[in-house]
Amino acid sequence: MDYKTLLGQILDKAAAAEGCAEAIETPSDAALGDYAFPCFRLAKTMRMAPPKIAQELAQKIEQPAFIAKIEAVGPYINFFLDKAVFAENTLSTALEAGENYGRSDMGAGKTVVMDYSSINIAKPFHIGHLSTTALGNSLYRIYSFLGFTPVGINHLGDWGTQFGKLITAYKLWGEDACVDEGGIDYMMSLYVRFHEEAEKNPALDDEARAWFKKIEDGDEEALAIFQRFKDMTLREIGKLYDLLDVHFDSYAGESFYNDKMQPVIDELREKNLLVESEGAQVVELTEYDLPPCLILKRDGTTLYATRDLAAAFYRKNTYNFYKSLYIVAYQQNLHFKQLFAVIDKMGYSWAQDMEHVNFGMVSLADGSMSTRKGHVVKLKDVLEQAIAKTRALIEEKSPDLADKDSVANDIGVGAVVFSALSNGRIKDIVFDWDRVLNFDGETGPYVQYTHARCRSLLRKAGNGYDYACADYTALDNDDALAVLRQIESFPDAIVRAMTKNEPYLVTRHIVHLAQYMNKFYYDHRVIDDDREKTAARLMLAEVTANTIKTGLYLLGIKAPDRM
Ligand code: ARG
Repeated sequence: MDYKTLLGQILDKAAAAEGCAEAIETPSDAALGDYAFPCFRLAKTMRMAPPKIAQELAQKIEQPAFIAKIEAVGPYINFFLDKAVFAENTLSTALEAGENYGRSDMGAGKTVVMDYSSINIAKPFHIGHLSTTALGNSLYRIYSFLGFTPVGINHLGDWGTQFGKLITAYKLWGEDACVDEGGIDYMMSLYVRFHEEAEKNPALDDEARAWFKKIEDGDEEALAIFQRFKDMTLREIGKLYDLLDVHFDSYAGESFYNDKMQPVIDELREKNLLVESEGAQVVELTEYDLPPCLILKRDGTTLYATRDLAAAFYRKNTYNFYKSLYIVAYQQNLHFKQLFAVIDKMGYSWAQDMEHVNFGMVSLADGSMSTRKGHVVKLKDVLEQAIAKTRALIEEKSPDLADKDSVANDIGVGAVVFSALSNGRIKDIVFDWDRVLNFDGETGPYVQYTHARCRSLLRKAGNGYDYACADYTALDNDDALAVLRQIESFPDAIVRAMTKNEPYLVTRHIVHLAQYMNKFYYDHRVIDDDREKTAARLMLAEVTANTIKTGLYLLGIKAPDRM
């Protein structure tokens, strides 16, 4: 149990109150203690002025072992931790839990569906897909660590008239060998050629429509060609997923819902929610302050929203989710508001359990990127560059390192992923090489480096230190306390990251942990002649390394032992 909760219970008892823990603050000024309780909320029940209450309670409270001093200052009761006891409690708890420190079963029996990455077939995987992939992967790990049952879904963009165009182009100019070799790039070039030629020869558009109709009608040849494009895309992007260590439980995409939309459309009709508007069928959403949601086009064909509607029902029926998350850029805010509103209007209260986990744009510091102008920055290129740059740095700084390639992979990929998870989701990100790979900034490599440095200290110390004899007065200083507090509050940071669907709360937490640990390391000798004190300091290093490693794991990043 954490200290706030414990202090809260003690206060509840002394004041015959409830919920005191919620009001406990952590003062930024160390002179005001490590925890402070404002007494205002007790004024009514205790019928006294808050400063008087503070005085009285400060006297009355049973002082727990982890508290060294209790002080009443004005309306506040300030608690000062006994640093050595705090160190012992924190370190032994964390060490015993090992890799499971921060793990919980709070989500037992609850399924959380997550729709992330959700790529489009025959389109390049560009840096704009980094956020959804990194966020989704991290949330998957965080929910799972907290005992939830996550279901990761890659809602493939595998439906639409563009595939008719692609087949037309393929039939006219495509070569099988090129598809196998050129992959997505080749498919893109076919697509581009189609648009160029269709400007001169509009009959191509009719042909494309005809091919798309064939896909819709289940024509064997059309489906076979389309399946080929799909397999090719997934094979190519699968390599990236492997590199990123990202996985999915389902690849059910838009086409999966072809035969699952009709029942939903029927239900909308039965509930009198479908309204005709300029020949199309829409659901009015005025009471939600939203424009109408288009369900069927004038020619009776379905839309992105129709498929998402069917997908929402399918997910509810299949997984009976506790939450259903859509990790998709904020450009689709309106789409998801409409989707949730339609389901709410149909009378399903679980509409409230769906959440659009939105995020900002990624752009490059050296000029913006635009898909239309063909300036796509492929994630593959970014990762490969990051790995190559790291490899060069390693060659320069640690020429003797074993496994250079695998370490360069872990650091290069980690740096890119870390940069995507460093700020609140909704902020637009400017991707800047120098910053991302900087070993001193608030970066992935910096945190990984701190982890490796702790491991190296432990290797240097060897096995001769008995933690059972540790003398925790070695940690009775503010530098150690800063590290310890960061360790102690780590489980809480994970829960907050889950509640807000904000992995950056874990990122920030381990960045600070690394900074505090480095400060401690610069200002204090870790290994000296005093074996008991050294044991305590080594424990601090070990638990710090474990905590950073778990934190990185939750972000989807590896923590090499040497670098
Ligand atoms: N493929 C879509 C895109 O690239 C994202 C799909 C998100 N998921 C969903 N269920 N709509 O924009």
